[in-house]
Amino acid sequence: MGPETSDDAGVYRISPTCALVETADIITPLVDDPFTFGRIAAANAVSDVYAMGGRPVSAMNLVFFPACSLPAEILREILAGGQSVLQEAGVCLVGGHTVEDDELKYGLSVTGLIAPDEIIRNSTARPGNLLILTKPLGTGIISTAIKGEMATEESSQAAIRWMTTLNREAAGLMRLCNACAATDVTGFGLIGHAAEMANGAGVTIQLNLSSIPLMPGISELVADGMVPAGCYRNRDHYLPLLAPIVNSDAIALLPLFDPQTSGGLLIALEPDDARRFMVEADRAGIFARRIGEVLTRQSHAIELI
Ligand code: CO
Ligand code: CO
Repeated sequence: MGPETSDDAGVYRISPTCALVETADIITPLVDDPFTFGRIAAANAVSDVYAMGGRPVSAMNLVFFPACSLPAEILREILAGGQSVLQEAGVCLVGGHTVEDDELKYGLSVTGLIAPDEIIRNSTARPGNLLILTKPLGTGIISTAIKGEMATEESSQAAIRWMTTLNREAAGLMRLCNACAATDVTGFGLIGHAAEMANGAGVTIQLNLSSIPLMPGISELVADGMVPAGCYRNRDHYLPLLAPIVNSDAIALLPLFDPQTSGGLLIALEPDDARRFMVEADRAGIFARRIGEVLTRQSHAIELI
């Protein structure tokens, strides 16, 4: 599986029972603390392997660092943060590369393993499936507010906690519950990734606006203009894929386009499996919300109700 399906990672079969899941993700700092930034970058990079249903096993650091303007201690902290999340994920750091650059960036390439018949694609949702989201939305909006020193402690802490939370347990549960399709919600926002899922399968995804979970303080921050440029770009790009909405408040829709870093999994399951997922998630303390369902193809890729 290559880039042609716009899936979360590439997959390369090495034997009839084993395939490599390969991905890389690099981000610029969202928070001041270098250790926390490292943790976020690592959780974000590993996520694509989980989104495919794979088990991440090894990783390489990819560092772009302004050695002239930042002390080496900062870099050590970032890498220590990354390492701490890799350890939690059971991923072995096997190397890396550093490039001198004006702007600090950090990420990782991550390799996972998967049985070829257990790959969970983003393009295989079926009409009748229910959709589950495993993290609330808002990391782009809160990161923008953190930079503008407008974020409350509650919002900042929530965003940091979610961004450093691995999708591992949610991914384990989706495998257990025979998910039909999955992706992780990242740069294109919920609507963008849902639209990819809908178009990939030739279906329409109907989202229930009132059940989409948001991080604390999101409505206030949006009202204060704490909206990243990427959110407006996503809206302009994906709005045509959205069926016209009656009584829609344009501001209320913005979080649905918010680019997420280390966002949750968007999972399509048969109704019985979705119910089982919700019960098991509740039991295991894994965040999960039913946010919509998959319909046969209508006039638009996405419908909001
Ligand atoms: Co992804
Ligand atoms: Co990615």
